[in-house]
Amino acid sequence: MRHDLFRARAPGRVNLMGDHTDYSGGLVLPAAINRYVTLDVTPRSDGATVLRSQGFEGVTKLTSDGRLDQGGPPWGRYAAAVHNELAELGRPEVGIEGSVRSDIPVGAGVSSSAAFEVALATAFCGVAGLAPDPKDLALACQRAEHRAVGVPCGPMDQLASTLGIAGHALRIDCGTLDVQPVRLPAGVMMLVLDSAVPRRLEHTAYAERRAEVERGHPGRMRHVESENERVDALRGLLEASILDRASIGNVFATSHRSLAEDFEVSTAELDRLVALVLSEGAFAARLTGAGFGGSVVALVDVDLAAAVGARVVERYRAESGLPGTAHLCEAVAGARLTVTPAKPAVAQQLPRG
Ligand code: GLA
Repeated sequence: MRHDLFRARAPGRVNLMGDHTDYSGGLVLPAAINRYVTLDVTPRSDGATVLRSQGFEGVTKLTSDGRLDQGGPPWGRYAAAVHNELAELGRPEVGIEGSVRSDIPVGAGVSSSAAFEVALATAFCGVAGLAPDPKDLALACQRAEHRAVGVPCGPMDQLASTLGIAGHALRIDCGTLDVQPVRLPAGVMMLVLDSAVPRRLEHTAYAERRAEVERGHPGRMRHVESENERVDALRGLLEASILDRASIGNVFATSHRSLAEDFEVSTAELDRLVALVLSEGAFAARLTGAGFGGSVVALVDVDLAAAVGARVVERYRAESGLPGTAHLCEAVAGARLTVTPAKPAVAQQLPRG
């Protein structure tokens, strides 16, 4: 039987301001970026899920009620978790079969796992004819992250991947889930520099930091309160009619220092990348995402961006011996589903009698 082909594509994200503020209901300012997880799937009548990855070995198999076949690849945990969260939202048990690919660097702090969850959820809902509110879909994916790997993340990454708007960052109030688009200034590029010190959040002090915030630890709270103010300070600067590079640079610098000193999530490599990219011509730079490794985000004038990225990578590699990389990023729209209808079977020409 021929089936419609469903393509679900979800972007990674870079966060411009507001890190370690989402899980206490604070403010964040991420943008979805032009790096994607893409799933190509067709429905299966037996309700089971069968997924292959073009980048990783192994096949992920789920039963129609969401049980994961043992012996599959580690990323199958995400598929099972998303499947089970969507069942709780009332998704009918419709199976899918297909493949996954991604050009989002893994472990770089640009939300490859959130993009995978959102792409999966978009595909699972698409084949089942379910169209949840995009915020509900994002929150289901956030719970799936908790369920799959036990990382008590906030909602920022999944909301950014779901709700992204081309050319804009999103000012999200994680307490009320109010989302306001913030137009990014023309002529400015987001340059993401991956330190190539990978980290998996379940192996870091992410959960410990969250618990410290919940207990009201003074140093941690100083970061959270000042970082919330910096989200709106940066929003104002980005929306101003004249681009004030120096003031934007100051907000980024204060944020990086606060994450390094009050929140203690930076590393020597991230500090070095910030210094290098500023010395090469970026006007703002800070670590982005959870820290403990991962990436720095810098703002650079568009005509300089490729050369600045190349020089920083060259100097960073020579100094550290690590395979750091640069990614020129644009702000893009959030997750999308496209459906290619099955071609009708070619009718047999019956001989006329
Ligand atoms: C990770 C988490 C997010 C957020 C950031 C830090 O990306 O998944 O929820 O807490 O770290 O801002």
